[in-house]
Amino acid sequence: MKRRDIGALDVLNRKAVENAYDFEDLDWSRPVDRSKPWSPEHIAPLFYLPSYAKFTPEEKRRYNQLFSMGVCEQFIWLEEHLLVNTLRKVVQRSDPPAPLKEALGHFIAEELKHTRMFWRMLEKSEPGWYPTRKFRLYNISALQQAVLDLVLKLPNVFLIWIWTAVFFEERTVDYCRHYLEARKRDPEAVDATYTQVHEYHFKDELRHYQLDQHLLAWMYDPQPRWKKRLAARMFRSLMRSYVFPNRTSRRVLEVLAGEFPRLRAEVLPALLKELPDIGRSRAFHRMAFSKDSVPKTMALFAEYPELDGLWNLFLEITKEEASG
Ligand SMILES: [Fe+2]
Ligand SMILES: [Fe+2]
Repeated sequence: MKRRDIGALDVLNRKAVENAYDFEDLDWSRPVDRSKPWSPEHIAPLFYLPSYAKFTPEEKRRYNQLFSMGVCEQFIWLEEHLLVNTLRKVVQRSDPPAPLKEALGHFIAEELKHTRMFWRMLEKSEPGWYPTRKFRLYNISALQQAVLDLVLKLPNVFLIWIWTAVFFEERTVDYCRHYLEARKRDPEAVDATYTQVHEYHFKDELRHYQLDQHLLAWMYDPQPRWKKRLAARMFRSLMRSYVFPNRTSRRVLEVLAGEFPRLRAEVLPALLKELPDIGRSRAFHRMAFSKDSVPKTMALFAEYPELDGLWNLFLEITKEEASG
């Protein structure tokens, strides 16, 4: 096991019990405020494109709201579809040591609570959109769906899910930090229920991030090299789709064009043309893939030579900087 500064499992398990909260502990009574943004403006990718400036304030706000809903859908996909389903299999098939098994039990229960929170948030945001709980904005490719199916079938062979958890759980923590900073600057700036959901999400994710590292040590480190290399290749392809966000952004733009027909003539085509530039924006990289946003993940990536292929995706950090 690599030496890491992570909480012991018994401490994590104790904290899971001590700090537990229920879905109903959140205040769901307020309506979502449609006159406000639902996330800090700079965390949405189109913010980093020149033609974003062509949006009116109302269009910017609506883009931000749709983006924020897409994030809720993405969390549901990641936490329930990918992680909970995978971990259930892992717990059933392998025989984790008792403290890890207990920690995974907490993890699964907490992720299911989170997906409930995100569905409620979506239903509050657009009451008519989710009669069947089908995603409206988050949009994965057929290839990504095929990968998901493979992982769910054989989580012990396709280990990409462990790296996905590591990256996204630290991103989640950083995501919440942006909400809390925005609230500190101006308590009225961003919708309060969105901020609350991300704040509560954060309470569990800090622990999850540590648990992921136990999973790495228990499940990933002892694996043969070919499985690690396969995981790394698959993970690079997934990361590329986050460095160059495309599918969900296009879907959000489609919905936006439906609501604001004037965008169809000039602004929308310009944004679609610029979309590939998001992944080349240093400011976007600083926000999402840097030592500021996910320092521990970057340090972990640097520990594993099979992940060396990741570094040329990132503009604002090198392997040397990550491990230094
Ligand atoms: Fe979560
Ligand atoms: Fe989590």
